[in-house]
Amino acid sequence: MRKQIVFTTAALLLLAACKSTESGVKGSVTKQEFGKTASGEAVDLYVLKNKNGVEAAITNYGGIIVWLKTADKMGRLANVALGFDKFDRYLTPPPYFGAIIGRYGNRIAKGKFTLDGKEYSLATNDGANTLHGGKQGFDKRVWTAVPNSASGSQSLVLKYTSKDGEEGYPGTLDVTVTYTLSDDDDLSIDYRAKTDKATVLNLTNHTYFNLAGEGQGDILAHKVAINASRFTPVDAGLIPTGELKKVEGTPFDFHNPTAIGERINNDDEQLKLGKGYDHNYVLDRKGAGLEPAASVTEESTGRLLEVWTTEPAVQFYTGNFLDGTLVGASNRAYTKRSGFCLETQHYPDSPNQPAFPTTVLKPGEEYKSTTVWKFRLAGNSAR
Ligand code: BGC
Repeated sequence: MRKQIVFTTAALLLLAACKSTESGVKGSVTKQEFGKTASGEAVDLYVLKNKNGVEAAITNYGGIIVWLKTADKMGRLANVALGFDKFDRYLTPPPYFGAIIGRYGNRIAKGKFTLDGKEYSLATNDGANTLHGGKQGFDKRVWTAVPNSASGSQSLVLKYTSKDGEEGYPGTLDVTVTYTLSDDDDLSIDYRAKTDKATVLNLTNHTYFNLAGEGQGDILAHKVAINASRFTPVDAGLIPTGELKKVEGTPFDFHNPTAIGERINNDDEQLKLGKGYDHNYVLDRKGAGLEPAASVTEESTGRLLEVWTTEPAVQFYTGNFLDGTLVGASNRAYTKRSGFCLETQHYPDSPNQPAFPTTVLKPGEEYKSTTVWKFRLAGNSAR
C-alpha cells in the first residue's frame, strides 16, 4: 500500500515537471463579462494565466482578485483566495475580499486629520473612525482596464481618478494599479499615483488567503513568519496608541515560523482587542527596495506564499470578523479565521501620528509602491 502511494506521488511529480518544461506553453489574458453595478455600469473579469497554469482572475470593479489558482506539491491547482463566483455577491459589500484599498488602507481616527493647517473630515464607516477609504472606497469603484500579454508575463493595468473631495480627501488623484503574473509564479502589484493638491494616501490589497484552498476550513495551522521586531499596539477602536512595541517575548513574535493558532487565544490584551491578530507590523527593513516581509506555509498542500514589498509595514489580519454568513465560490461558509490577510502598507492613522512615516503625497511627487506575492512550494523559498 505504502509503495503504491510513493509511486503515485513520484509519477505525479514527474508529470508536473514535464508540464512545466513543455515548450510552446504560453501565458494568456482573457476577458469575460462579469456583471453590472447598481447604476448599470458593465464590469469585466480578466483571467491572467501563466505557462504553469497559475491563474489570477481580476475584475475592474474595485480591482478585486476574484480567484487565485496556484499549484500544490502534487501539481494540482486550487483557488487560494476567498471570493465569489457571481459578481452580484460583491455588491452587498463583503469585508474587502481581494480588493484594492484606497485612498487610505486601514483606519484614520475619528475620520479627521489636519494637513497644511486645514482640518479634513472624512466619511466614517467603522464606528467613529474611517476604515479602508470610507463609505465608497477604491474597492467599490469601477476602474478602466487594459490587459497586456507579453512573453513571460501577463498583466492588467487599472486606472481610476478619484475626485477632489471624494470621501472627504483633498486633491484630484490619478491612480494606476498594475497586476503582473510572471511565469515564475509571482503576482506583483504595482501602485502609482499623482495628485494636484496635498493629500494622504495608503494603498494596499485586501486578499484573504487560505493556502489549503478557499473554503477548506480555518487557517490556524498555517505557519507564518513576519520579518518584524515591532508592531503598533492598538486601543479598543483598533487605532494605534503611538507606541512601537517590541514583539520579543509576546505572541506577536513571528521571527520563527509559527502556526497562527499556536498563541492566538493567549491571555494577551492586544490579542483580545484585535479578537486575534489584527495588527500592523513594522518591518525590519534594510533599504527602500523590494524586501521580504512575510512568508506563510501550509503543510498539507506544501504551498508557500512569500510576500515582498517596498512598504514599511504589513497588517496581519486573521479573519476574526468572518462569522459564517458569507458563502464563498465553492459553496462553503466563510467561518471565523477561514482566511488571513497580509496587507502591505504604511501604519494605520499615520495622518494623525507625526512620529510615523509620512503618508502625505504632494503635487509634483509620484506615489510608488510595489508588493509581490511569490507562490512557491515549501522548501523552495525565493530568497
Ligand atoms: C482590518 C480589520 C477589518 C478587516 C475587514 C482589516 O484590514 O484590520 O480590522 O475587520 O480589514 O474590514
